[in-house]
This record gives sequence, C-alpha cells and structure tokens, in this order.
Amino acid sequence: MLLIAENIFASYNKKPILYGVNLQVKCGEIVTIIGPNGSGKSTLLKVLAGHLKTEHGKITFNNENITLLEPHQHINKGIAYLIQGGKVFPSLAVQDNLRLAGLKISKKEFTSNIQWIYELFPKLRELKTRRAGLLSGGEKQMLAISMILVHKPKLLLLDEPSAGGLTPLLSKEVFTTIKRINDEEQISIILVEQNIREAISIAHSTYFMKNGKAMYCENPLKNLTNVMFEELIV
Ligand SMILES: Nc1ncnc2c1ncn2[C@@H]1O[C@H](COP(=O)(O)OP(=O)(O)OP(=O)(O)O)[C@@H](O)[C@H]1O
Ligand SMILES: [Mg+2]
Repeated sequence: MLLIAENIFASYNKKPILYGVNLQVKCGEIVTIIGPNGSGKSTLLKVLAGHLKTEHGKITFNNENITLLEPHQHINKGIAYLIQGGKVFPSLAVQDNLRLAGLKISKKEFTSNIQWIYELFPKLRELKTRRAGLLSGGEKQMLAISMILVHKPKLLLLDEPSAGGLTPLLSKEVFTTIKRINDEEQISIILVEQNIREAISIAHSTYFMKNGKAMYCENPLKNLTNVMFEELIV
C-alpha cells in the first residue's frame, strides 16, 4: 500500500469538516474521490498534502508516518499537490514557471523531466516563451499540472484538474493525460473530480464523500444509485 489515511478528522477554526475519513491508495493506482460540493474533498487533499493537520488519525506513506510533516516535506517524499484552481505565476513565461517549480532538483533531472512533460503536453513546448498570464484556461491548467510533475512524484493529488472552463475536448485530453501519467510512469494518483463518469472510467478505485465522510464504492458505475448521480451532476 502506498498511502493509508486512517481516521482523519479536520476542522477550520474549530468547525469540524472531516469526520474520520479512511482511504487507501495502492502503488500504481488511480483513486478518484467524488461527492457533492462542500462534502470535504478539497479539505481531505489539503490534509494529505500537509497543508492542514489532522486532529486525530494517522497518515502513512511508503510505510512511513507522515502525519505531522510540513508541506515541503511531503514534496520531498514524493507527494505533489494540485490545488483547486491551479497556481501559476502570471508574469513569468511558461518555461520560467517550470524552472521555478524545479529549482530544488538537479539540472540533469530537470532536463530529463521537462522532456517528458513536453511530450505529455506538446502545446506547452510551443508556448514556452509565452507569459503564463496570457494562457487560456486549459493551457494554464496544463502548466499548473506540469509544475507539480517536474519532481516526478510518486503520488499526485489532483483537485479538479478538468475544471476551469475547459471545453469538453480539452477536458477529455486532461483525463487521457492523467491516464498516461499513471500508465507510463506508474505514478499513483488521487483524483478529485466533478466529471464523475470520466473520473470513474479511468480510476481503479472510487470513494464517495458526503458530509465529511468517505465511503469506498465497489463497482461504482453499477452501484452508485441514480439518486447519487443526480445529486452530483448540477
Ligand atoms: N479555508 C476555509 N475556512 C473555513 N471553512 C472552509 C475553508 N475551506 C473550506 N471550508 C468549508 O469546508 C467545507 C468543505 O469544503 P471543501 O472545499 O473541502 O469541499 P469540496 O468537497 O472540495 O467542495 P467543492 O466540490 O465545491 O470543491 C465547506 O463547508 C466549506 O465551506
Ligand atoms: Mg473542492
């Protein structure tokens, strides 16, 4: 098992949001988390990335207890986090955003990883000298994903990578790329998504979150009731 989150509780200013979440990710697996707005999906990713501390419970990554580690230590361990909405530096060129994201790795490693990133997102190679602030929503999202891939992480935490007003075609491309990242490099992925059918179709496991609790879904396409889908598709 790559990641085991046990009995995760979390609050904002003493207001409880997560109530004992359990979640597991196997090596090489895509796990998707779906659920209604406000159910705690982003909060759970924040906890797993070290941006918010769990009040009880334990997080084990690669057989190591990482519960109390800070966000930069998560990055060093191989956990990369795409925050909801993504984050790029608008005044810098695409290639400088990538360089900045890769400051901590060796030049050799950076050069090889950047090759791989440009293969995943050929569009970014074409746009490498363009300022990030001038990119379209989809291109910006590709850059934000690339910036967290620069370290070749073991686990990717993706908070709604297909959001941000992407056209259906671009959104489909994002899912295809996520699948490639997983297939080609065996990078494990936790994928929080509103596009639930697409997410489920590329995931090996699915969790459904509601009111701060996560439920493992066996055979999600079959077993998620229409009621759940209706609630999710707004
Ligand atoms: N920084 C914050 N401070 C206080 N409350 C917050 C904060 N961030 C989120 N919340 C609240 O925590 C709850 C869970 O939010 P969260 O962002 O985890 O939900 P979500 O499942 O990701 O929703 P969405 O699908 O809309 O992205 C919501 O009620 C939200 O208003
Ligand atoms: Mg969210």
